[in-house]
Amino acid sequence: NELEPCQIIIFGGTGDLTHRKLMPALYNLQAQGLLPDNAPIISIGRRDKNNEIYRDEIYHSINKYSRNEVEDSVWSSLSSRIFYQRFDFREDEGYSRFKNFLCQNQREYQTGGNRIFYLAVAPEYFGIIVDKLKEFNIVNQGGSGWNRVVIEKPFGHDLDSARKLNDKITAVFNEENTYRIDHYLGKEMLQNIMTIRFANTIFEPVWNNRYIDNIQIVSSESAGVGRRGGYYEQAGALKDMVQNHMLQLLTLTAMEPPATLDTESIRDEKVKVLKALLEMDTADIRKFAVRGQYGPGKIKGRRVPGYRDEERTDPDSKTETFVALKVYINNIRWSGVPFYIKTGKRLQKKSTEVIIEFKDMLHPIYLKNFNSINPNLLVIRIQPREGVYFRFNTKKPGTRQTIIPVNMDFCQNCQIGQNSPEAYERLLQDVILGDQTLFTRWDEVEYSWSFIDKIAEAWQDNNPDFPNYHAGSQGPIAAEKMLQQEGHHWWNV
Ligand code: BG6
Repeated sequence: NELEPCQIIIFGGTGDLTHRKLMPALYNLQAQGLLPDNAPIISIGRRDKNNEIYRDEIYHSINKYSRNEVEDSVWSSLSSRIFYQRFDFREDEGYSRFKNFLCQNQREYQTGGNRIFYLAVAPEYFGIIVDKLKEFNIVNQGGSGWNRVVIEKPFGHDLDSARKLNDKITAVFNEENTYRIDHYLGKEMLQNIMTIRFANTIFEPVWNNRYIDNIQIVSSESAGVGRRGGYYEQAGALKDMVQNHMLQLLTLTAMEPPATLDTESIRDEKVKVLKALLEMDTADIRKFAVRGQYGPGKIKGRRVPGYRDEERTDPDSKTETFVALKVYINNIRWSGVPFYIKTGKRLQKKSTEVIIEFKDMLHPIYLKNFNSINPNLLVIRIQPREGVYFRFNTKKPGTRQTIIPVNMDFCQNCQIGQNSPEAYERLLQDVILGDQTLFTRWDEVEYSWSFIDKIAEAWQDNNPDFPNYHAGSQGPIAAEKMLQQEGHHWWNV
């Protein structure tokens, strides 16, 4: 794949995502020579401003949010091709003028009709924009060049709404041109899961129910809901984190080796995992699906409000900010191995990890005379620290009968200069290159929603006793109990 010239069109050009993630990512790609020379960036917003003012605002955002300092030469080559187009994308008026602008800009930059439409807007506008792009003939189907659409999450709020949205999109863009973002797939260590598994002789043979006791997939955040209360009230942790990011982590951890590394072979294997997810019935949900909502508490010594006191949340809100689940993958490799998923806001620390707990030795030669032996643990650290941790047993020096756990801890981003690219850098680069591997295919969305819908429906019917954990804690007691009953506990390594 090579870098072809193209127009990068951002709906939601004045929004948070554009300022915090997209523009800094485009800047970093430019700095590394990974943007095509002829790639104008056209931002659409409702507010009144001209190119100069918009570029100035973007400059400040890049300075604030980029992992690198802004260099004048890089910025001047990028900024001269950032354009601001003011119009209300909900109204017809404006689209014709916008189309003329695009055609003129296409001639000027010789982009040959290649267009990326990035929908960095609230989900209720995805359908409207796609419809209008079709109505005003702005998507160049079958003409010269390619047209791709990039859609932020959430992709629907249940299976039914996801289907409707998909129908709208596929009426204009086909699956090969639809890039559904799950920014977790852009993270270095998620991509590394496959490499760790399939490029190491020592891991793959034990990666199954004969040797693995349980797997914990945990993503905790110390941040609260911030200013996103309005959106979050409708979503909750199950739909905001589990349906997408957590299930992506699960599929990469559990998938079979793909036949080749091409996009569809990898996606095929991921889908098989989702298909094999054992559906939870009402009794399972009662026992093995814990939800929580944070009350007031302290994060790093600072008092923070409870969820119900956050901006734009309901004072009696039933929205969950924490989820813990026990799920099974019903196939030969994983039969009988519980996968524990946990995610929540306002927990003690920010950390995402996949923790693999191995079984005890099959022949317990040491167990009789020695102290108890700890299980082997393999931890894939996703963020903020990136790396791999492995814990194993050794003899304590100078003793006869004491066995102690020791660890090997590889840290990928601890050294200065080991600066991993931001997820959006990799993802934007892949859209330009036309590589869909790190984007969610439609059937992945379908299977994940049908699994999640069952839980969401069961939860709708009864009243949770919220708030049930303090900000800054480990989450609700019920989540600890759920594992204790199984003879397990959440690892914190
Ligand atoms: C987003 C969710 O998709 O992921 C947020 O909408 C969440 O609620 C965020 O905070 C977490 O992403 P990261 O990259 O900070 O782990």
